[in-house]
Amino acid sequence: MRDASRSNEASRNYHMRILGIETSADDTGIALIEATGEFGVDFRFLVRANEVASQQHAQYGGIYPNVAKNEHIKNLPLLLEKVRYTCADMPDVIAVTVGPGIEPCLWTGITFAQKLAAQWSVPLVAVNHMEGHIIMSLMRHENQNAKIKNQNGMQEFEYPALALLISGGHTELILMKEFGAYEYLGRTRDDAAGEAFDKVARLLGLPYPGGPEISRLAAEARNKNIESAVKLPRPMMHEDNFDFSFSGLKTAVRRAVEAEPLDETKKLVLAREFEDAVADVLVGKTLRAVEEFGAQTVLVGGGVSANTHIREELGRQLSTASCQLLVPPPSLATDNALMIALAGYFRAKRGEFAEPGTIIANGTMTLI
Ligand code: KG4
Ligand code: ZN
Repeated sequence: MRDASRSNEASRNYHMRILGIETSADDTGIALIEATGEFGVDFRFLVRANEVASQQHAQYGGIYPNVAKNEHIKNLPLLLEKVRYTCADMPDVIAVTVGPGIEPCLWTGITFAQKLAAQWSVPLVAVNHMEGHIIMSLMRHENQNAKIKNQNGMQEFEYPALALLISGGHTELILMKEFGAYEYLGRTRDDAAGEAFDKVARLLGLPYPGGPEISRLAAEARNKNIESAVKLPRPMMHEDNFDFSFSGLKTAVRRAVEAEPLDETKKLVLAREFEDAVADVLVGKTLRAVEEFGAQTVLVGGGVSANTHIREELGRQLSTASCQLLVPPPSLATDNALMIALAGYFRAKRGEFAEPGTIIANGTMTLI
């Protein structure tokens, strides 16, 4: 064993070794962590490996389930080999994402996890992908741009906590009363925030995934101080509820694109105005929920939480409201298996193991 001395030391200090597997959308992830302690009390963990393979869907402008599924099938054994090379120790538990997500993709992870569990005689834990995003935002890291340190624990925070989950498939405001106890306050009625970024990017002729591309152009527009002549709507921002809608915003961008030829400057200003509009709505609705529920903490998760402008706007407004903001490091905001291993640990601690052979993929799985 290549890493025997370090792993022996680790095994003395940590109580459980968890292999996490993530295949809910277009990123394949396998991670191995060692962890100990209770949620919010004395939790500590060590990242032994965290491998992600992101698929190249740029040429399609989105995810094609069957292409993504075949990529997962190809990537999983390769990633496992990398993880096992870094740490050959057997896990105590295998945690796998069972939903929400693209069902053919979820099945590839589940099937792979079940085979490993049988081969190694270790129990399985079924993890909700969105709980993974929540847990990731609660992990301690030095600053917004830092990676999670190898050995780490949880941020201190107070309840009630509000989770703003913004990803390619979801946009949700959730009240978190404790680990595992969630209440949905609102969600998108049409497109998810990340989906809107991806679709608008496509309209602007930018590659997939659109979030980082739009963010780059918007930052350039802000640096050069170019304002948009077109004012986009802030859908549902002032409505007295916690729901969102982004498809009208996308349509407004399409109209603006079709109105006159799309030159580089127009791309910059539209990217900026679009990002401003999304940030305004997300921040506005989150603040409304903070006030109504007396939230002490807001945690943000999902791929869109990597967005610098949205983080900065949330940070600015929440500090005025004396509310703590917790965000994951940008590199761990998008899908990864570390978050699944972490969520799996807390579920395993509660003894929530899945009967082998009974796990099913649930594309529309909720947190309650
Ligand atoms: O959580 P995630 O990796 O996958 C899902 O569970 O959906 O989120 C992916 C989404 C994509 O729509 C992508 O465009 C968006 O996150 N995204 C961003 C940024 N980075 C990724 N959106 C805005 N700004 C970013 N910097
Ligand atoms: Zn996600």
